[in-house]
Amino acid sequence: MTASEAGSKNSLSVRDNRTGKDYELEILEGDVIRAGDLRQIRVNAGDFGMMAYDPAFTNTASTRSTITEIDGEKGILRYRGYPIEELAEKSSFLEVAYLILKGELPTKDALSQFVEDVTTHTYVHQNITKLLSAFRYDAHAMGMMISSVAGLSTFYPEAKDIGDPRTRWIQMVRLLAKMPTIAAFTYRHHRGLPYVFPENELSYTANFLNMLFRIGVTQFRPNPVLERALDILFILHADHEQNCSTTAMRVIGSSRGEPYSALAGAMSALWGPLHGGANEAVLRMLTEIGDVKNVPSFIASVKAGERRLMGFGHRVYKAYDPRANVIKRTAHEVFQVTGRNPLLDIAVELEKIALGEDYFVSRNLYPNVDFYSGLIYEAMGFPVEMFPVLFAIPRTVGWLAQWEEMLLDKEQKIARPRQVYRGSPQRAYVPIGKRG
Ligand code: ACO
Repeated sequence: MTASEAGSKNSLSVRDNRTGKDYELEILEGDVIRAGDLRQIRVNAGDFGMMAYDPAFTNTASTRSTITEIDGEKGILRYRGYPIEELAEKSSFLEVAYLILKGELPTKDALSQFVEDVTTHTYVHQNITKLLSAFRYDAHAMGMMISSVAGLSTFYPEAKDIGDPRTRWIQMVRLLAKMPTIAAFTYRHHRGLPYVFPENELSYTANFLNMLFRIGVTQFRPNPVLERALDILFILHADHEQNCSTTAMRVIGSSRGEPYSALAGAMSALWGPLHGGANEAVLRMLTEIGDVKNVPSFIASVKAGERRLMGFGHRVYKAYDPRANVIKRTAHEVFQVTGRNPLLDIAVELEKIALGEDYFVSRNLYPNVDFYSGLIYEAMGFPVEMFPVLFAIPRTVGWLAQWEEMLLDKEQKIARPRQVYRGSPQRAYVPIGKRG
């Protein structure tokens, strides 16, 4: 369509200066154009047409979604329209999981049914414990988790039937239920401790803490403050729209395979230090600073470009990460129980100085979710290799909701980006004896 033909206000006029031709591209809701509309822009009739070049998808919307809304400029995060602060204050993790998966907050009856369903699917097949026992004593918890979750697909072959809503739902419940069990088993394996099996009368997080930390007693009841703190951390990590691991989940799922393997792929994407591994980096940084008196010199090295202040800055948030506010409050509550983590003083001082410095203010660098979460995990007794696992358990909800949304979206197909080929043009094959 040419400019003169269009005349609509919701359009973008483009002139191709190579040909002098004008094009009118429709602007859709959300200030987007269809990348496919660019294909009409071509020099010769036989050309492939224009594409958008966007390494790392920094400015490409891959989907329309109704799950999570982020406004990075204003520091807003909402699940299905509900502000994260309100959910963290008033809801339980499983209630939020239901909201994210189903789209609405549950009624009382729906919530008790959901809690019962999740609670009664927490056991794993005995052979999963055999699989776990095959790992070396020092195997990383995430490697064990990823393998076990992929392995679950072999126990539930019916999961392939992704077109059936009931089958999909059962796998979602299973995954949500079994992630803490497998996570706790990886921790016990590492410690050389016998596995503790799920207890149905405990809450989701209390059961997890029981499977992790019960030793030498027949009954273990975690401190309610720690149980609630973990529940809040799980709420904060439940979804974060189209990040690296969620995109991995959607891309793998787009080939229409079963969800266990796709989730194992999403977990692999999460494991990297630029994604789920940043809270560990914060902890190492605080330990290295060692004392509040060393904070000014550390800040000076950051300003000189020698270091990064880990736990600060975010690709999307250009204001305070709303999750960091909630976590900071939770940290203080946890430390009332566990005793004050001396690293907290360093973190608070770093934040105070950084927020007053032009270097950080002018670059919109504020604390992100990882700045305080590692301190809480450490105070609760988790080793650093469990940190990405603690991220993966709640994010399972987001991965599954996004996976199902992708499957039900009529506009989605198997994910398959294009490339701009920059290699050698066709050349003559050289036999091995004649190569230089
Ligand atoms: N410390 C010091 N300077 C920083 C930091 C930081 N943490 N983050 C960004 N900057 C500076 C950059 O040097 C750059 O400065 P310049 O314009 O003078 O060159 C400017 O701010 C913009 O930085 P980019 O790297 O372009 O921003 P980007 O959006 O690509 O990076 C990221 C975002 C990766 C999160 C970055 O802020 C960072 O490395 N932070 C520390 C690691 C971290 O905490 N990651 C966790 C993110 S939350 C999560 O994944 C759950």
